[in-house]
Amino acid sequence: MLMRMIVLVLLLVGCSSGQQFELSMSGEKAERLQQFYFSSYTNENPFEVGILEKRKRKVYFNLSVLKEFEPEFAINLESRITGNFLDAESLKTVVQATYFDARNLPQTLTEFNARWAIDNPKIFEVHGPVTRYLRQITMSEKALQYAILNYFANGEKLYYPTGTVIKAEHISENKILETTAMMKRSDGFWDFVTYDSTGYRASETLPNPRALATPTQCVGCHLGKKPFEPEDSWPSDAPDAPGGIRKWYTGARDQQVTDFFKEHSLRSDLVLGLYATTYVSDLRVQRKSATLDSSEIALLDYLGL
Ligand code: HEC
Repeated sequence: MLMRMIVLVLLLVGCSSGQQFELSMSGEKAERLQQFYFSSYTNENPFEVGILEKRKRKVYFNLSVLKEFEPEFAINLESRITGNFLDAESLKTVVQATYFDARNLPQTLTEFNARWAIDNPKIFEVHGPVTRYLRQITMSEKALQYAILNYFANGEKLYYPTGTVIKAEHISENKILETTAMMKRSDGFWDFVTYDSTGYRASETLPNPRALATPTQCVGCHLGKKPFEPEDSWPSDAPDAPGGIRKWYTGARDQQVTDFFKEHSLRSDLVLGLYATTYVSDLRVQRKSATLDSSEIALLDYLGL
């Protein structure tokens, strides 16, 4: 309550004392990116608390309000303001330099694994657009079941519970060369992190073919709408891309389940892989051989599949 009052006063003061700067950032996902970046530091929707304001299709950021929430982030941004503008590249540079610590993400993979253990892991394998290495993606079966069993309650969308972790290990010749991961936050976004082959936090992935800055390039794809292969062609095979195979290896190919979830094109929870699709497709195969337990049968019944 007190915070809200302070913010209100600051909003009034801010407007009159020129503490507002235009955030030059355009494109269809600009607003979501702005929310992600600012909420990463404040845990609040920046548009709701007056850090950001939309006026006539432009977005302004209020330095004094931000200072109340996160003085360090505000000061870092302030040093990059030129005239009345803060440009998108400057915002990204500041985020890239400070995000891991602001989010308190573990410095080592060992600490990461201790904080986000994955019980009953389900594993999916893919050659996709992120890396030429094989990607082995792991999440807990419980988190996946939770997303599926709340599908109708969530308006025919797949949402993972807060605290869900999804790991994607990049593998060559049976060695894990790096680990990327997403962890579901309470504000609906995910955190992104990368660990190198020695298990230390890395600011970008290996250049195979492109080094991807974490998190600023991760959100480029995960917050966008662009379709990717092999997910877009599923259940058909995807054409190979220049410089790499595109193939999703795990699970049965079932057109009906694919059309039911439209998982990759909807990407309701910023998650791009085919987890519910292939998991449920596999259950339908197993049902034919009567190897399902009662909770798995209940899950198929719930979906009507
Ligand atoms: C070129 C677009 C693109 C970029 C950039 C990208 N991703 Fe993804 N990501 C995908 C796609 C597509 C998938 C689905 C699986 C696959 O094909 O690899 C995915 C899957 C994932 C998954 C498994 C959960 C899911 O959403 O399916 C994790 C974890 C992940 N990415 C983390 C990251 C991190 C961390 C970064 C930044 C270092 C990153 N990604 C950058 C496109 C991207």
